[in-house]
Amino acid sequence: MSSVAQQDIPQHVAIVMDGNGRWAKKRFMPRFFGHKAGVDTLVKVVNHFADRGVKYLTVYAFSSENWKRPEDEVSGLMGLVLVAVSKYLTKMAADGIRIRIIGNRETVSQKLRDAWEQAESVTEGNSRITLSVAFNYGGRWDIVQACQRLLREGVPPSEVNEETLGRYTALSYAPELDLFIRTGGELRISNFLLWQTAYAEMFFTDCLWPDFGKEEIDRALAAYAARDRRYGGLRPAPLVAHA
Ligand code: FPP
Repeated sequence: MSSVAQQDIPQHVAIVMDGNGRWAKKRFMPRFFGHKAGVDTLVKVVNHFADRGVKYLTVYAFSSENWKRPEDEVSGLMGLVLVAVSKYLTKMAADGIRIRIIGNRETVSQKLRDAWEQAESVTEGNSRITLSVAFNYGGRWDIVQACQRLLREGVPPSEVNEETLGRYTALSYAPELDLFIRTGGELRISNFLLWQTAYAEMFFTDCLWPDFGKEEIDRALAAYAARDRRYGGLRPAPLVAHA
């Protein structure tokens, strides 16, 4: 059981799920084996976070840059989405998970779009936790598409500010991002939630994504609870007793 008090639990956590390929390689298996294990891990992890009281979990499943990978790996990841939806959707719906997809849907196949729409509509009424899956997503793409939509709708420049632009970003339905986690040992954001990471706390771990579980989640939550979030301000002065 976690020792973190409920008021110190982040509302919104994001994860770069890195390390699937290395995890598979260590087992003398093809990279795809690691991605498959990665999906099983994700299904468990979303439940652990929900049990701890986290209400929004956003994960990076396929970046705008992942198209640069070998063709068989790209098509493998696309196929994995279809398998994951047919294997896990019923369970996730029963677990109270609401699924949302963020990213550019225009350049993925119709089959994939249909699978995402099915996952979203079947889980629409759930409220235990919202799992946002970033697929064909990039942080820069998100900011650009927000600007394009805003301009298309004729929002006058005098009304463009952080709040209005934020409303056009892909995660506008979610609260501010509190905690950003990256597994797999790299220390970078890799064009994930650029707008939303403004005041997020960072937690980097060497743990490879398929090995990420309860223990590591509690380590991340404890680290978050120990942080002093000042949002650019100052820590309140300690109370001093005057004689
Ligand atoms: C990074 O590991 C991982 C990815 C690019 C894919 C992440 C996808 C999943 C965990 C599956 C989720 C899928 C669905 C359907 C939600 P890597 O391949 O870069 O690993 P490496 O750094 O060890 O090579």
